[in-house]
Amino acid sequence: MAVGSMNVEEGTKAFPAKLTFQVFLCCVIAAVGGLMFGYDIGISGGVTSMDTFLLDFFPHVYEKKHRVHENNYCKFDDQLLQLFTSSLYLAGIFASFIASYVSRAFGRKPTIISASIFFLVGAILNLSAQNLGMLIGGRILLGFGIGFGNQTVPLFISEIAPARYRGGLNVMFQFLITIGILAASYVNYLTSTLKNGWRYSLGGAAVPALILLIGSFFIHETPASLIERGKDEKGKQILRKIRGVEDIELEFNEIKHATEVATKVKSPFKELFTNRENRPPLVCGTLLQFFQQFTGINVVMFYAPVLFQTMGSGNNASLISTVVTNGVNAIATIFSLLMVDLAGRKCLLVEGAIQMTATQMTIGGILLAHLKLVGPITGHAVPLIVLVLICVYVSGFAWSWGPLGWLVPSEIYPLEVRNAGYFCAVAMNMVCTFIIGQFFLSALCRFRSYLFFFFGVMNIVMGLFVVFFLPETKGVPVEEMAEKRWKTHSRWKKYFKD
Ligand code: BGC
Repeated sequence: MAVGSMNVEEGTKAFPAKLTFQVFLCCVIAAVGGLMFGYDIGISGGVTSMDTFLLDFFPHVYEKKHRVHENNYCKFDDQLLQLFTSSLYLAGIFASFIASYVSRAFGRKPTIISASIFFLVGAILNLSAQNLGMLIGGRILLGFGIGFGNQTVPLFISEIAPARYRGGLNVMFQFLITIGILAASYVNYLTSTLKNGWRYSLGGAAVPALILLIGSFFIHETPASLIERGKDEKGKQILRKIRGVEDIELEFNEIKHATEVATKVKSPFKELFTNRENRPPLVCGTLLQFFQQFTGINVVMFYAPVLFQTMGSGNNASLISTVVTNGVNAIATIFSLLMVDLAGRKCLLVEGAIQMTATQMTIGGILLAHLKLVGPITGHAVPLIVLVLICVYVSGFAWSWGPLGWLVPSEIYPLEVRNAGYFCAVAMNMVCTFIIGQFFLSALCRFRSYLFFFFGVMNIVMGLFVVFFLPETKGVPVEEMAEKRWKTHSRWKKYFKD
């Protein structure tokens, strides 16, 4: 493994550290939290378009779908069906709030273990669901798993990784999200023709949960969490192990100092909302997640099979198309992994916004011209063209707003409010995912192809936001973010005393 005694972030102290196998393993295992999240994102859309699932739980939607003269855009509009997808996120918001306290009081490792147990029980409940109550109950437990996982995993990786590898290791979380989505869409493709195929699809969520559960017994608690809870000796011992060097005093002292400052803040949420100096990262970190969702990505992730069916593709063709778009999503994320510390955050975010604006507008225009209220889509090549455009759109998201929506909020807060600030980003993600999950199909029914123009405009707004309001965080040590970026930014410096 590479040995790094210097920190790439200019101006930061050099802590002796190797990228040890221990650290790598800890990060990979923790990132399996992303696999759970991704599996769930990818499974819902396919399951809600399966006839056997609809017949068992939503027979009225099944009937509507098969009424030949039904309005094309309204086939799947059903509040309960959408609640199946989105209930998880409501539970997730509540759960990540609890997780922010649990992880502070008991450590990151037990919080990650709890995440896997919630997810496992939720998957089992869904696998054996006999009625809608069991189905929704299972999703609420899955939501707890995701809330606990998403709140803790990216911070865990940031704390355990040596500074110079932090960016890349963090993007691994998003990479595993995309692998989860891809695996789920493939599972849906395989199970869609089986009797009760949906049970296997939903039950499959137990696999990432089990991997995380077993794996998490092999991860180390982070030194910062141990030291924060007064376990200095244990913290030192782990630090030595994961850094692969004897000389860890410098880093230990730095963590000790940071935790001393942090523990003076008794109420991080109060500090976050009342101290004006926290306003810039709070606004940027939270808005970044708001915008991440209003790129419209989950319209594609949740409802791609439904969308392809809306355009007249058969069940199977629409599931294959979904596997293709999800494959593109995973591959394009690798590009981000390689580029994020070279090109910088702003460059990727702006490029992604432009790419997504162009494709959303074109898709909107094509649907406007070719998909009327009733009757099949006109033009044989249209579904294929839309598929290609969706792939271009998804790749734009995958190397920009996808990973950076998680990375940037994890690197812009001072330590004392980092957990609380990160919670705001996670909660914003969940609230907006809920809104998209719950209302997209109704919005599609009402606004039809114009909906894609709406997302196109949102992408323009977010691109402009990045240009004018977001400082470039590449290469800046986390603890120097306020000094080097916020205090010198023309729009944010007024929040700081001289
Ligand atoms: C987002 C999810 C999205 C996924 C797609 C994640 O970063 O938070 O909402 O479905 O990326 O890859």
